[in-house]
Amino acid sequence: MKNAILSSLLFLIALGSYGQSTATLTVPATSTRTISRHIYGHFAEHLGRCIYGGIYVGESNTKIPNTAGVRNDVVDALKKLKIPNLRWPGGCFADTYHWKDGIGPKDQRPTIVNTWWGGVTENNSFGTHDFLNMCELLGTEPYLAGNMGSGAVQELADWVQYVNFAGVSPMSALRKKNGREKPWKVKYWGIGNEAWGCGGNMTAEYYANEYRKYATFVSDWGNSGGLFRIASGANSADYNWTEALMKIIPKNLIEGVALHHYSVINWDKKGPSVKFDEQQYFSTMKQALFMDELIQKHSAIMDKYDPEKKIALVVDEWGGWYEVEPGTNPGFLYQQNTMRDAMIAGSTLNIFNNHSDRVRMANLAQMVNVLQAVILTEEEKMLLTPTYHVMEMYNVHQDATYLPLTVKSTDYTLGNEKLTAVNGSASKDKNGVTHVSLVNIDSKKKQEVSVNIEGANYKSVSGRILTSKTLQDHNTFDKPNLIQPVAFKGAKLKGKTLNVELPPFSVVVLEMK
Ligand code: AHR
Repeated sequence: MKNAILSSLLFLIALGSYGQSTATLTVPATSTRTISRHIYGHFAEHLGRCIYGGIYVGESNTKIPNTAGVRNDVVDALKKLKIPNLRWPGGCFADTYHWKDGIGPKDQRPTIVNTWWGGVTENNSFGTHDFLNMCELLGTEPYLAGNMGSGAVQELADWVQYVNFAGVSPMSALRKKNGREKPWKVKYWGIGNEAWGCGGNMTAEYYANEYRKYATFVSDWGNSGGLFRIASGANSADYNWTEALMKIIPKNLIEGVALHHYSVINWDKKGPSVKFDEQQYFSTMKQALFMDELIQKHSAIMDKYDPEKKIALVVDEWGGWYEVEPGTNPGFLYQQNTMRDAMIAGSTLNIFNNHSDRVRMANLAQMVNVLQAVILTEEEKMLLTPTYHVMEMYNVHQDATYLPLTVKSTDYTLGNEKLTAVNGSASKDKNGVTHVSLVNIDSKKKQEVSVNIEGANYKSVSGRILTSKTLQDHNTFDKPNLIQPVAFKGAKLKGKTLNVELPPFSVVVLEMK
């Protein structure tokens, strides 16, 4: 009797410690839908130690190896991510930035006050040439965020001419005088940022009308292969904003509509980046997964005006936002990066992949030392965060053919609340290799996922996993490799079924041939 009670108890405990989910992976004979590599874009703002210290240390720095002032260690790490595009110089900073301050001899550039971020001064030693040359070094496409809030139409039109025009003109002459003969051919242009807030506190209708004027003069100077103009988009669930832009802006003047959404628990009480509890983790993940509903609803509005999906939804700011690290400048937004951030990154990228028909560009906020950064630096030291490793593992999806993966997941529950525990996405690359990325956000339970495969016969499966002992684990300058991807042995192919065992809070990317 005693034994029977004990074994029932053990059975119940075992049952409670894992969940069972099912999924279907469909491999169509032909498909034209790709996951744009631009979904894997980044964002670098003049904010805290992102540019100065994190990316740029100055040409005269002898302590930190650099190329034209840009850190070699950071460039090498970023190259491995295959960054498709990089947004600069902001953010809120963009609507205070006057690009002519950042060209010409460095000792003659004005020192300005960064009014949005800490009120610190900066000497403009990292400007247009520095940024665009760094993009060439990285093999990434620049995305310039234009100043609409405190700038002028002429100023932005001049910037386009300065960087893109090959012929004879006042701006191309100035560029040549500053040492750059050939234009850079910048395709991606933002027209203002967060126009509903730091970009000018405009109404949607006012902004949309201003946008029409600006976009008219942000024109193709004949050598850039067509410009891609991105309108400042909605703040999370402000659907009226998207509706107004789509209604007021003519289709020939717009290529992308932005959307910003941060995984923040509460703007007045964001919680710590490392010492968070399970309730805070749950709340962060609720905000991260909300991205799916946001994209569905903003896309539905866009579909009404643009059923052919010509205009892209550009999620050009996303990521986790917590309190700054104790003792650091509150205006610098410096935060650590734990397994919680890996969960945000993996889940968000799965959401983007699954909406890749409309979401064709996105930018993680931000690249180095700010918010959900992929890299943290401290003087000459550098570390790669869990988010970096997720971005690197997922880069197999860049420009690959999208494959539908539907997941029926059990729930991750906390108190009376529940979230979907498992999410995933899949694609087939140009060599015919299929990649499936799966995330189990459950903090305690492992998940057994049984994937039914339709339309393909795979012979082998292998993969990598990112996980750790606790959700709060993170890489430090003393232990920079505590969290890094390792080979994954928990996937087995059995005919048309793929069985995967996902540990709690893990990200797995599988390769099937
Ligand atoms: O990424 C930090 C800030 O968040 C950006 O400058 C702004 O656009 C957003 O509010």
